[in-house]
Amino acid sequence: MSSTLADRAALAAIAAQGAALILSLQDEGGAYPASPTFSAYRGFAWLRDGAFIADGMSAGGHVDSATAFFDWCDRVVTGCADRIERIVAAAASGAPLPDHEMLPARFALDGSLGGGEGIEWWDFQLDGYGLWVWAALAHADRHGIDASRWRRGIELTIDYLVSSWQRPCYDWWEMHIEEIHISTLGSIAAGLRDAARAPFLEPSRASAAAETANAIIQFILRDGTRDGHLIKWVGSHDVDASLAAVVGMLAVIEPSSPVGLTTIAELDRQLAVNGGVHRFLADTFYGGGQWPLLSCMLGLAHVAVGDHDRAAGLLRWSASTAGESGSMPEQVTHHLLDPAYVAEWEERWGTSADPLLWSSAMFLRLAVELGVA
Ligand code: BGC
Repeated sequence: MSSTLADRAALAAIAAQGAALILSLQDEGGAYPASPTFSAYRGFAWLRDGAFIADGMSAGGHVDSATAFFDWCDRVVTGCADRIERIVAAAASGAPLPDHEMLPARFALDGSLGGGEGIEWWDFQLDGYGLWVWAALAHADRHGIDASRWRRGIELTIDYLVSSWQRPCYDWWEMHIEEIHISTLGSIAAGLRDAARAPFLEPSRASAAAETANAIIQFILRDGTRDGHLIKWVGSHDVDASLAAVVGMLAVIEPSSPVGLTTIAELDRQLAVNGGVHRFLADTFYGGGQWPLLSCMLGLAHVAVGDHDRAAGLLRWSASTAGESGSMPEQVTHHLLDPAYVAEWEERWGTSADPLLWSSAMFLRLAVELGVA
């Protein structure tokens, strides 16, 4: 990375402050809260946020923190064993259970469903189940940890995803339950692909995981592209910034393949403004601002194809969103896609989430990748 020493030190300090914040807020049972203060997230841990947070912490050398999170995931999923068995049996019988009986996207910090408190959530999301397995196995590889400590949770997750991956569900942004989202499929494929190689699995489960991961990748290549790049959902023309993970961190689509390169170029062209990345062009959530975690995710895709300068630019832009203590928000308002919506959301949920742990974790992840942290 080309940068002055002073610049490096400032970036490293933000990465370290973010990691310290995450450590200070991690629940004693291992869960990472999405945001300690934001009205709609307080008290809840998402599998998706948590998987990426743990991946950042793991890459940053915070081994015990990440392990504790995956232990929590294993306990949470194992606690859903009966429900998963019912879901799998119903799918096999040709009468799948309705969406509201599928597993949730988020849990209370103690691993319970946290029902009854306030907002009803857009809960049926499959991506987090693939992501926790992907991140746990990457963590195990990175630090020489025996992943069989999460064996039961991984087995149940495989069964769940193999039975249900074809179902439409809410996406990473908890929207459009009627669509089949390419980033969701990419998240599932990454988890199943890596799980299939785990030495502790029974051969039949390992081959089901491998075959399903391959089927998903073929599906993505056939139905999840348009004009040479990945698309937001099947039938869409648009891109979504979460696709940066599919071609970058998760490498479900080879980053330097034609589809990988065209997707990265299209994300840059459509969604990045001065280094700040929007979720998707029609976003109106808090006016549709720029998300530092997505700038870092796009940065990681650039690293995967060798463009460290572009990645460094995205890291620097993300650093510009950090507050005095180094914490980072979910989004910033420098460039809004639809300013008319800010007031509506503020009235509903208060000012937007700040700090958001996922943002700090993605910054740390990219900083490590660029040799800054
Ligand atoms: C985002 C989700 C995220 C959640 C918690 C939502 O606004 O759309 O992706 O998991 O916040 O951070």
